[in-house]
Amino acid sequence: MARVKLAAATDVPPGEGRVVDVAGRTLAVFNVEGAFFATDNACPHRGGPLGEGDIEGRVVACPWHGWRWDVTTGASVNNPAVTVACFPVAVEGDDLLVELELTRNPDGVPWVEHTPGARAWPGNPSPRRG
Ligand code: FES
Repeated sequence: MARVKLAAATDVPPGEGRVVDVAGRTLAVFNVEGAFFATDNACPHRGGPLGEGDIEGRVVACPWHGWRWDVTTGASVNNPAVTVACFPVAVEGDDLLVELELTRNPDGVPWVEHTPGARAWPGNPSPRRG
């Protein structure tokens, strides 16, 4: 896991969401009354962009077919057994940071395999296990 910058906190006003590309993934980040939450941007129904959906309280409605998701838990409002992936968000200064399992470095460069089970970014002399 690694902490990477997701956005500036001011980029996501209260009651809104944004789509953010980070480290080779596309996430949705939401501001619920000053608290920030991140989910996978792809709606589990058919891949609609959750970060572009309308938010009411802590629930976002997918803009494609209206399925509703609790952004604080990732659970479907209609069927909590169905979930979208959630990612912890931390606020450091003006930045929103997210915890991700990286398959690419924060600049989007793929990991380089050095030895079985060890990964490193190009130019990083210390491979990370993962
Ligand atoms: S793609 Fe989200 S409700 Fe259909």
